[in-house]
Amino acid sequence: MRVLLLFSHPVESSYGAALHKETREALIRAGHEVDDCDLYAEGFDPVLSRHDRLVYHDYPENTKLVDRYCERLKAAEGLVIVTPVWNFGFPAMLKGYFDRVWLPGVSFALVDGKVESRLRHIRKMAAVLTYGATPFRAFVAGNPPKKIVKRVLRAQINPWKPVTFLAHYDMNNATPETLSAFLAKVRRKMERF
Ligand SMILES: Cc1cc2nc3c(=O)[nH]c(=O)nc-3n(C[C@H](O)[C@H](O)[C@H](O)COP(=O)(O)O)c2cc1C
Repeated sequence: MRVLLLFSHPVESSYGAALHKETREALIRAGHEVDDCDLYAEGFDPVLSRHDRLVYHDYPENTKLVDRYCERLKAAEGLVIVTPVWNFGFPAMLKGYFDRVWLPGVSFALVDGKVESRLRHIRKMAAVLTYGATPFRAFVAGNPPKKIVKRVLRAQINPWKPVTFLAHYDMNNATPETLSAFLAKVRRKMERF
């Protein structure tokens, strides 16, 4: 299937970049067509401007400045996100992508006051996240990024479809063993995506 791979990390030599590469290559090996959307490398502008807010509800006017990104989202049959966790959320780059691209008319429509998904063409979703925090600290904090993936994005796409959630916690105490074991896990899961 055609998989939109969203990646958000500014450093080419980071572990996040290694996860991105592993994910992309495993998906391709599995026979998928990968649309590799490296938001930093592409210089995506994540700031929702005054203009963007004024036209936010006016489809298709609202898509004009991010038309290419909307088309890529509309063409996706699978969605995979690779990102670190910053301040218990997505980096501003990735958060801004959702603000600016997942627009009314593109990702959802308001029909008689009710939200209707426009993303039913996405049949599968996965997320690969890294946390500095331990699982316990993330749990105590309410683990917002996990909820964004497993509840918010899933509900926007299709609440009845399962989501693959992969996380390396406690990056502050990562060892070469934990890093390579997680890369291997991501490889295995993505080869079966
Ligand atoms: C700006 C910033 C904010 C961060 N905030 C959190 C946080 O709230 N929770 C957490 O678990 N880790 C946090 N971290 C740690 C990152 O998740 C961790 O550094 C990253 O997952 C490691 O991957 P990398 O080496 O590929 O960057 C933060 C890191 C940065 C740079």
